[in-house]
Amino acid sequence: MTPSAPVSEITSTSVEQTRALGARLGSVVRAGDVIALQGDLGAGKTNFVQGLARGLQITEDVNSPTFILANEYHSGRLPLYHIDAYRVSDAAEAEGFGLDDYLFGDGVTVIEWAERVRDALPQDVLWLEFEYRDETTRALYVRAPGANAGRLAKEGLARV
Ligand SMILES: Nc1ncnc2c1ncn2[C@@H]1O[C@H](COP(=O)(O)OP(=O)(O)OP(=O)(O)O)[C@@H](O)[C@H]1O
Ligand SMILES: [Mg+2]
Repeated sequence: MTPSAPVSEITSTSVEQTRALGARLGSVVRAGDVIALQGDLGAGKTNFVQGLARGLQITEDVNSPTFILANEYHSGRLPLYHIDAYRVSDAAEAEGFGLDDYLFGDGVTVIEWAERVRDALPQDVLWLEFEYRDETTRALYVRAPGANAGRLAKEGLARV
């Protein structure tokens, strides 16, 4: 089930390219923006978030919050809330963890395995789906089911 048809498809042929895409998006995000990431294990979601952090000028190391729901980074232009919903079973559980405090907080929220908490997310969220193509290649499908997500896709991910 997808929230809308992809507005674009981007191909990344290296880890650095995936990080650079994240960095570019990180340079245009605003407080309150939410970015939902989908894709299998090893698809590149965390590398993209590391790039996003770089684009926000975050100086801390960004690692997947494997055993807790969220990591917060405060050294950049805006706070970054990095959520990994892999171990969350549904939206109700995420709400119990205080997901809304991040979504409606003063920072940028990026969620790995976001489809698991889809029902807890606002509608106007930028959805990025990573698909494994081969060892070094990933396809990135961009979906923007709202005006703000559309702005993010246009300013942060459109081909130049
Ligand atoms: N073009 C590419 N973009 C991103 N990662 C790539 C690419 N090519 C190869 N890789 C490799 O794929 C892996 C991606 O790992 P990453 O942790 O970013 O995935 P993930 O989607 O966050 O997985 P998980 O669901 O386990 O959190 C890394 O080992 C990385 O080196
Ligand atoms: Mg990850």
